[in-house]
Amino acid sequence: MILLDGKKIADEILEKIKKEIETLKKTTYGIPGLAVIIVGSNPASQAYVSKKHKIALRLGINSRVSELDEKTSQEILVNRIKSFNQDNHVHAVLIQLPLPDGFKTWEILNHLDPEKDVDRFLPINLGNLLLNRTEIYPCTPAGVLALLDAYQIELRGLNAVMVGRSFIVGKPLASMLTNRNATVTLCHSQTKDLAGLLRQADLIVAAIGKAGFITPDMVKKDAILIDVGQNFLTQAGEVIRLCTPSQQKRFEKKGVAITGDIHIDAFKKSSYYTPVPGGIGPMTVAMLMHNTLQLFKRKTRQETS
Ligand SMILES: NC(=O)c1ccc[n+]([C@@H]2O[C@H](COP(=O)([O-])OP(=O)(O)OC[C@H]3O[C@@H](n4cnc5c(N)ncnc54)[C@H](OP(=O)(O)O)[C@@H]3O)[C@@H](O)[C@H]2O)c1
Repeated sequence: MILLDGKKIADEILEKIKKEIETLKKTTYGIPGLAVIIVGSNPASQAYVSKKHKIALRLGINSRVSELDEKTSQEILVNRIKSFNQDNHVHAVLIQLPLPDGFKTWEILNHLDPEKDVDRFLPINLGNLLLNRTEIYPCTPAGVLALLDAYQIELRGLNAVMVGRSFIVGKPLASMLTNRNATVTLCHSQTKDLAGLLRQADLIVAAIGKAGFITPDMVKKDAILIDVGQNFLTQAGEVIRLCTPSQQKRFEKKGVAITGDIHIDAFKKSSYYTPVPGGIGPMTVAMLMHNTLQLFKRKTRQETS
């Protein structure tokens, strides 16, 4: 079993982006700009946004965070999006999801300029992905593929089982794996005999949000296991049953531990596996920075051609 080290690969990608931005600074084209809009005070969302902002600044990206109170009206949020659409220093806009209850997510997202949609969630961008007519992909699915590519894992012909069908992870990733010539089964909460399907899989990608849900008996020997899930555990019994020793230590200090959707004992049967944390999480952030740079370059090309 080989650990797919998302943290290491993400750091390498970030380093390359940093160097490219240093070079860009010497030109007259300016630097990439990223704007993140966060509504409300969800602690997990706040932590994700703060991390993205710090990393973007470290790379030399012109990063700004726009915070809105959860009592903000939908109109104010939409106006904020429109002002970033018109701002020439902003090339990429991210609206942190989920929005608090009461906000109509799609009504709001549809006001974003598709050219600045750094998450690539808008219908036109997801449509182009489905048609295999894009070079910029949603961050988490892109992170999964970039990590598999970094370890030169051939996807052609693999029997891949994707568990979870969100528009953020499962649906785009299932299309991307199909476009890369894997044979994909997309599973969800209504799937019959999920364990039977998983036992036949050469590649399993889990994006469910249930700690340790995929157990060793559901995994074929030498399968590739990709764990997108990020579950925060606060009960000692669960932490002992589902977390690695290093996360158990974290729990003792901080009262919270992180684990994925694939039970840690399943990794022993795998050929390759991603850890949680340190797998797809850092790759997602690296792809956000990558997409920001790509959107900047695309805009600059359009302006200079
Ligand atoms: N590492 C990262 O950067 C990153 C990025 C995004 C998400 N995540 C994590 O990935 C996980 C999934 O996120 P998401 O946004 O895709 O979640 P989501 O929108 O809640 O979707 C969860 C999916 O899991 C399916 N599911 C739930 N219970 C199931 C069951 N018993 N059997 C089979 N499928 C089941 C659901 O099926 P139905 O559609 O039938 O309800 C749904 O399709 C979460 O832990 C999230 O924190 C991590």
